[in-house]
Amino acid sequence: MHIAFAASECVPFSKTGGLADVVGALPRALAALGHQVSVYVPRYRQTKLTDPQTVVRSITIPFDDKYRFCSVVTAGASAGVRFYFVDYPQYFDRAALYGGPAGDYPDNAERFALFSRAVLEASKVLGVPHVFHCHDWQSALLPVMLRTLYAEDSAFREVATVFTIHNMGYQGLFPPDILPLLMLPWDLLTISRMEFFGQVNFLKGALVFSDFVTTVSKKYSQEIQTTEYGFGLDGVLRNRAATVTGILNGVDYDEWSPQTDKFTAAKYSPQDLSGKLKCKQDLLNAFGVANGGAKVPVIGIVSRFAAQKGFDLISQIMDRLALEEMIVVALGAGDKPYEEMFQRLNKQFPKKIAVKIAYDNAIAHKIEAGADMFLIPSRYEPCGLNQIYSLKYGTVPIVRATGGLDDTIEPWDARTGRGTGFKFSDYTGEALLATIKQALLAYQDPSSWQMLMRNGMSRDFSWGASAREYGKIYERARQVRASANAAAAAADLKEEPVLG
Ligand code: ADP
Ligand code: GLC
Repeated sequence: MHIAFAASECVPFSKTGGLADVVGALPRALAALGHQVSVYVPRYRQTKLTDPQTVVRSITIPFDDKYRFCSVVTAGASAGVRFYFVDYPQYFDRAALYGGPAGDYPDNAERFALFSRAVLEASKVLGVPHVFHCHDWQSALLPVMLRTLYAEDSAFREVATVFTIHNMGYQGLFPPDILPLLMLPWDLLTISRMEFFGQVNFLKGALVFSDFVTTVSKKYSQEIQTTEYGFGLDGVLRNRAATVTGILNGVDYDEWSPQTDKFTAAKYSPQDLSGKLKCKQDLLNAFGVANGGAKVPVIGIVSRFAAQKGFDLISQIMDRLALEEMIVVALGAGDKPYEEMFQRLNKQFPKKIAVKIAYDNAIAHKIEAGADMFLIPSRYEPCGLNQIYSLKYGTVPIVRATGGLDDTIEPWDARTGRGTGFKFSDYTGEALLATIKQALLAYQDPSSWQMLMRNGMSRDFSWGASAREYGKIYERARQVRASANAAAAAADLKEEPVLG
């Protein structure tokens, strides 16, 4: 089957978060199963290409004010996957992917509408797939356009769409007059389509028009059908519950394994954990923290700083956590209030929390390898990749039991020797503190702690199984499309005037 991915990020070409890891790895796993896979992403300033070749010189994208003309370049194929980049420097050759310190770029609707439409047009030249697989609000207009503007285009009649929600918290909300600018029909502005409290909601469009909707863990697929986690779109998902499912993300162990990691001070494995101590020392050096002795547990954090990630809970408990023998080492960047909060905590408790405000892949790897525990207290977490990396590095996760965090971490039970980490449910500082204390206590018993580490290291979250599940969903999406086409054809037939 030919599957074309359309997404706004893809490792190694562009990244702000886990979406990029998924779009970088899942296509390769699908290609290994024998599928033909193309990946379309925008060509940003940070996209480094060796020897790019132009494969579509000019695509006309009509906007109401004036036409825009973009092109498509390829960087060739890697591991059986062909990568295409939509090139339109006016929109994508910018300092960041989505916005700067002043907020989101004001023309994000136009930028990603152009991208979605360019993918459809380019595919007519480069190969129309059996399935378009779109991700998050940035490529959400593709299924919308396919069923509206392109409904009569015979090139796409049989083509199915699968849409994956990586995060319900980002929906792409724009004022109604964006519709005429993008030459989209006004009838999209109805409650059953894209209207959302008077605005146009790109994500909602994809949830309405795609043949199948997936999200990145089973638990999150259930949570987003509730008002608590649905960000106002839970009803839309409940309406189509039969074609919504959760498929857990895999991870790429070529990038994230303590046995082969290029960024760490030493390699180690479940059989020989000794290198981890060197990694811990190297991590403390990188953060300029005096060695409190190998016995002092290090709690690592690597994160986008956003409300989703639950760090307000740390601020609530830091004065009490500081009384414990431990040190927190945090790497992150994002929303100003959280950056400032971490800097403030570092000033207040310099011996207890070390902080780097940055986006730095090498340091992220050093934390995964050098920390003893890894903290993710998220308010909500569709999947989460860092806790899965942590398991492989024997860095014991402490997580809130939500979304993919709940699906991937099994609670440690010292009596049975089973489990891989520590979880709490209530979104409160008290629950977090109690759980961290439980982990610190467990750390005091080195032999059972090593069993806990090895339990996690033995877990396998590679992509193979999830890629096979996606394969089944692509088949189902094609069936949904075929039935919809058959139903439409039957309705047309009924409307034919009876002759004679
Ligand atoms: P999300 O996509 O919500 O940010 P995930 O856990 O799915 O969360 O993925 C985050 C990815 O981004 C991981 O690969 C993580 O290592 C990386 N990452 C997040 N913040 C940073 C940072 N400050 N520096 C380097 N890598 C980061
Ligand atoms: C999102 C989610 C994260 C998930 C990632 C990849 O950014 O916040 O939980 O792991 O997408 O699917």
